[in-house]
Amino acid sequence: MNKALYTPGLGYYSAGLCKLGAKGDFITAPEISPLFSQCLARQCQPVLAHFNDNVILEFGAGSGSMAAELLKALEQLNALPSQYFILEVSADLKQLQQTTLQAQVPNLLDRVQWLESLPNQPLQGIILANEVLDAMPVHCFRLEKEGVSEFYVGLATPNNSPSDETPYTWQVLPTQNESLRGIVETLRPSIPVGYVSEMNLALPAWIQSVSDSLSAGMILLIDYGFPRHEYYHPQRNQGTLMCHYQHHAHDNPLILVGLQDMTAHVDFTAVAEAALSAGLSVSGYTNQANFLLACGLPELLSALNPDETKTYLQQTQQAKTLILPSEMGELFKVMALTKHLDMPLLGFVQDDRVRL
Ligand SMILES: C[S@@+](CC[C@H](N)C(=O)[O-])C[C@H]1O[C@@H](n2cnc3c(N)ncnc32)[C@H](O)[C@@H]1O
Repeated sequence: MNKALYTPGLGYYSAGLCKLGAKGDFITAPEISPLFSQCLARQCQPVLAHFNDNVILEFGAGSGSMAAELLKALEQLNALPSQYFILEVSADLKQLQQTTLQAQVPNLLDRVQWLESLPNQPLQGIILANEVLDAMPVHCFRLEKEGVSEFYVGLATPNNSPSDETPYTWQVLPTQNESLRGIVETLRPSIPVGYVSEMNLALPAWIQSVSDSLSAGMILLIDYGFPRHEYYHPQRNQGTLMCHYQHHAHDNPLILVGLQDMTAHVDFTAVAEAALSAGLSVSGYTNQANFLLACGLPELLSALNPDETKTYLQQTQQAKTLILPSEMGELFKVMALTKHLDMPLLGFVQDDRVRL
């Protein structure tokens, strides 16, 4: 998965393909509506105001839409950060982000800086990641009567080739990875023998490095996923690994390698555990609908002009996509992790599931 997504020049996120939006493979919340980033700005404003010298760091900024809309909204709220860092692994997305920001907020471009790695000096402010955790490589496993098997990828031979569409085949073998084996064993007996799913083993190290780069402030992670008891639910017995190609979703990562997106849902219990071990507080957890509503989506909608019929209808329709439970409202979650920041967080005042 790591190679398919990130091999320089060949991986899905490292080659020059159009990934986001109507002509790409998938569409994300900031691409659906500027209202998403405007709500986010309302959550960011009081946190930024807490610090004299404050920055925002965004991981994996996609097309740059969220950064542009967020900066516009923060400017209107008189709450611009002194700097807006973007940490992006994809060279072509970085270029797209520069074009978007140049077109939409040329006056604020001098505040934006692209980083190759996390800053050496810990920062004060906000770290954002929308749909970044789901793009991290996972290990696919199957619980056996004794032990744990892992889905390795092998080269197909004429005898075991699953189809003409791919030179690859699954090789399901006892895992050689002791961390994977140990963690999956802890899920027994809540998951039955034969259960197939996946695990993001890189998550704790990622959270630790993000925590280390924050001296004080908030990390906001937005993604599709569940708490562990729902993630590893007996009914979800084939896992959540999905592929997206030109807006078709399917579950075969062995085809269209490097051309299609591959993604897995996020285990938010694992995120919370990693955060606590990394010295962070878990300060809010809710679904996207409740977060956006608490951040003032209704007020933003009522400020729209109904006489501009086309825009009005378009924006209300987009807002529905963001919050309806059958669309993004329930599946997508927002988790706030904080360090040395003792204040109520706007997006979680209506619903906070941290202590459920
Ligand atoms: C699904 S896209 C989401 C893009 C954008 N945040 C949005 O919501 O439209 C995933 C993004 O994460 C980036 N990415 C994946 N792993 C990353 C990592 N370890 N560090 C920084 N960016 C990463 C990808 O290059 C891409 O920009």
